[in-house]
Amino acid sequence: MTWLVTGGAGYIGSHVVRDLMAAGMPAVVLDDLSSGRRDRLPERVPLVEASVLDTAAVTAGLRSHAVRGVIHLAGKKSVPESVERPLHYYEQNVCGFASLLTAMAAAGVDRMVFSSSASVFGTPSVELVDEDTPTHPESPYGHTKLACEWMLADAAATRRMHWACLRYFNVVGAGAAELGDTSELNLIPLTFRALESGRAPQVFGGDYPTRDGSCIRDYVHVVDLARAHVAALQRLEEAPEEPGAAYGRVLNVGRGVGVTVKEVMAVVAQVTGRPFRYEVIGRRPGDPAHIVGAVDRIAVELDWKAELDLHDMVRSAWEARGSARR
Ligand code: WQD
Repeated sequence: MTWLVTGGAGYIGSHVVRDLMAAGMPAVVLDDLSSGRRDRLPERVPLVEASVLDTAAVTAGLRSHAVRGVIHLAGKKSVPESVERPLHYYEQNVCGFASLLTAMAAAGVDRMVFSSSASVFGTPSVELVDEDTPTHPESPYGHTKLACEWMLADAAATRRMHWACLRYFNVVGAGAAELGDTSELNLIPLTFRALESGRAPQVFGGDYPTRDGSCIRDYVHVVDLARAHVAALQRLEEAPEEPGAAYGRVLNVGRGVGVTVKEVMAVVAQVTGRPFRYEVIGRRPGDPAHIVGAVDRIAVELDWKAELDLHDMVRSAWEARGSARR
C-alpha cells in the first residue's frame, strides 16, 4: 500500500521520499510547489500538485492512490518569519493539518507520521528535554506545531489512528547534491551566503549563559532524519489491527548533543577551507539559549539513533551548495 508524503518536493520531504523508494515502499507526493521543487522528485513518484488546504483534492488523492498512511511535512518552518506573519503560519500549519486530517477521515486513512518541532519546548529549564518536558513554545511557529500535536491526539481519540509525532531539532545537511536546503532561513545557509558574498557571518547573541556565550542547539543530519521517518512508518505498518489497540507516540529526533553557534562557525571554516571572522551581534527575539533533546525514547521505540555528525552535516550542505551554484 502507498504512503502519501505531503511536502515531498521540499528539502526534508525529498529525502524521505528517496528513503521510502529505497525501502521498496510505494510513495506519492502531495505538494503545491510553493517552496518545493518538482526536480527533487524521482521520475516514478506521482505528484498531486495541490495544497493541503484543498480538502477535496487531498481526499481525491488519498483515494485514487489507495493511500495507507500519510507522512505530513508540508508547512512553514521559520521561527523569525512566523513572528512577522503569524496568521499565515496558522493558516498553513494548523488549518492545513485540520484539512488533511478531515480528508484522511473521509478516505479512511488511519496512519500518520507528523513533522513536529523542538520549538514546542520554548526555553527549557532542563539540560536535556525529553518528550514529557513541559511545552511552552515562544514563537507562533512553535505554537502552530503544538496546536497540531493537540489536534492529532484529539482526532485519534475519535477514530482508531496509529500515529508518530516526530519533534525535529535542528536539521542540516544534504543526502545528495541536488537536495540541499534552499530555504536560506537557517544558520548554515545564512552563513554560506555571507561567505559567498564576502560578508562576515553573524552570530545572534554572544551573552547567553553558555560555554562560549552563543546559543546551543541539537543539530541532526537530514539523512538521519529521513531514516527516522521510514522507521516510524514501518512501526505504524506493524501496528495491531484490532480495534482499540492504537499506537501513538511523541518522539524527539536529534543527536542529544549540544553545539554552540561559534562551534558551528569553526566547523564551517574547516569544511569550506575559508578561515573567517564572524560578527557577534544582538540576540534574535524568540531564541532559547540552549535546547538539546533526550533521544532515548526513539531508540527504544524505533531502534533509531543518529549516525552522522556535525562535520558530515556541514560538509554535505557545502557540497550541495556548490553543486547548486554550478
Ligand atoms: C540556530 C541558531 C540562532 C542564523 C530551527 C528551525 C525550526 C525548528 C528548530 C524544525 C540560533 C543562530 C542563526 C544566523 C545565528 N526545527 N543563528 N546566525 O531558530 O534554532 O530553529 O530548529 O522544526 O524549524 O528553524 O534555527 O538555524 O534559525 O538558528 O547566530 O545567521 O543559530 O540564533 O541560536 P532555530 P536557526
